[in-house]
Amino acid sequence: MTKEMIITGDSKVIITNQTGIHEKLEEVVHRHLQYPSKKPYQAHTQQAFAEIDQIVQAFDGDIILDSCCGVGQSTRLLAQRNPNALVIGVDKSAHRVNRNVVELTKKDSVEQVSNYHLIRADLNDFYRLVVQAKWSVAQHFVLYPNPWPKSKHLQRRWHGSAVFPELIHIGKEIILRSNWRLYLEEFQQAADIAGRQGDIVEVSDSQPLTPFEAKYQASGQKCWQLLLG
Ligand SMILES: C[S@@+](CC[C@H](N)C(=O)[O-])C[C@H]1O[C@@H](n2cnc3c(N)ncnc32)[C@H](O)[C@@H]1O
Repeated sequence: MTKEMIITGDSKVIITNQTGIHEKLEEVVHRHLQYPSKKPYQAHTQQAFAEIDQIVQAFDGDIILDSCCGVGQSTRLLAQRNPNALVIGVDKSAHRVNRNVVELTKKDSVEQVSNYHLIRADLNDFYRLVVQAKWSVAQHFVLYPNPWPKSKHLQRRWHGSAVFPELIHIGKEIILRSNWRLYLEEFQQAADIAGRQGDIVEVSDSQPLTPFEAKYQASGQKCWQLLLG
């Protein structure tokens, strides 16, 4: 296969040996759809989920999930734009989730909003708990997930992961963004296998939703969005 270079927002150069949809994508997705994950849950995610689940079950309005939220800039922006919704940002990195909210709020010029929560949890477990608890999620954002561009890492991408069968049923809308269009094309194909369809368009927002989006735009890279209805 030909090698392709991708510049990331961290200015690192990623080499990928993939120039098209992964040849094992269909096989991997079908296998995961057929055999649901039975991996034990990590205690910290179970605990975090139990706390937020009480709040969600008591809330009478739209739930918006912001997966892989990093420092939570998008979570706060979405909360500001949807004042009647409850927005839940989830990231596995305690460092990112716990960064000083006041400082970041000033930096991303989001007004003080309170209709959101930032949760430290591993989505490989969290997604399964969301489905078991039957959360009704209006919008599910997955903004700039780690791309894992090496071909051998297909199963680290969300659409190649064992939790994809749960992920794909969370959200009346799923909004996925990446600077690697092929990631979205693969996700789109995997979603189609699972019965959901959607289109890919170039992101044209004037205000970046996340720090990674801001970095990609500043370095002249195109950002892409897949919207599954
Ligand atoms: C490339 S960063 C993007 C962060 C943010 N969405 C942005 O655009 O600035 C990817 C994020 O996904 C998070 N992440 C990766 N795997 C995860 C998992 N299994 N559960 C929860 N978060 C995860 C990482 O900790 C990281 O913050």
